[in-house]
Amino acid sequence: MFEELKQRQSVVWGAGPFERVQGMIADMHDDLVAQLDLQPGDRFLDVGCGTGGVAERAAARGAKVTAVDLAPALVETAKRRAAERGLDIDYSVGDAEALEFDDASFDVVASSVGAIFAPDHAAVARELARVTRPGGRVGITAWHPEGRIGDFFRLMAPFQPPLPDGAGSPLRWGDPAYARELLGGDFDVEVLERVSVLEMDSVDEYWEIMSTSFGPIVTALERNDDEGKMRIRAAFFADAASDTRADGSIRQERTYVLVLGRRR
Ligand SMILES: C[S@@+](CC[C@H](N)C(=O)[O-])C[C@H]1O[C@@H](n2cnc3c(N)ncnc32)[C@H](O)[C@@H]1O
Repeated sequence: MFEELKQRQSVVWGAGPFERVQGMIADMHDDLVAQLDLQPGDRFLDVGCGTGGVAERAAARGAKVTAVDLAPALVETAKRRAAERGLDIDYSVGDAEALEFDDASFDVVASSVGAIFAPDHAAVARELARVTRPGGRVGITAWHPEGRIGDFFRLMAPFQPPLPDGAGSPLRWGDPAYARELLGGDFDVEVLERVSVLEMDSVDEYWEIMSTSFGPIVTALERNDDEGKMRIRAAFFADAASDTRADGSIRQERTYVLVLGRRR
């Protein structure tokens, strides 16, 4: 299902150097890894790993880290970063809906706003449960649908192709009841409401990073003509205005949920 969409997503997410964006959610990466209470030697899987923000933290704590992402370009960057940092991480291209690992092969499975982008939510939930050993743990972060990133998704929607019928919106995972429903059959689930804080010197700096390095915006700019590009930029600046202080700097509070589960 949704193969054409996922093919497109694998290119879209790789359309910019995501490593420039991942620092904006470093507090979420710290939070997720801290909550999972990793022990040296834990077999750890990061699903939708991007350029390695979570995988690197887990490896630094002594976990035996495997990580997959749909976007080949981001996996290449993640591999390079691991080599530069002397971290032993087994990266490969992979789909959250069809993980290429044996049943019960991980002690801890994590995904920081990654697996939520796969369109078949039930398949993702099934795969997360399948690869987690009994007694093992899962930790997923998801943007809250009513939060500032929910607003950002809504402002970008007119400039992107619509999701095909039946494809799940990533924002649904941010609804605690929905996340419990998806994972509650196989995990004892706890949902924590969190805030990630973005601080930037100016909207111009924020736009420069996002417009050159965040694949979905890079792609939307490429797909639109000059007028469309101007409308995207204007919508972005209008949205950021509510987070702008008198000195022009930005502080944006982005609510997300941290879904923690223990495999039964
Ligand atoms: C917002 S980025 C988050 C990356 C990383 N987890 C982080 O927190 O820095 C979303 C990531 O999910 C990946 N992704 C989207 N759909 C996926 C799928 N079906 N399977 C695996 N990864 C997927 C994208 O390629 C992208 O790297």
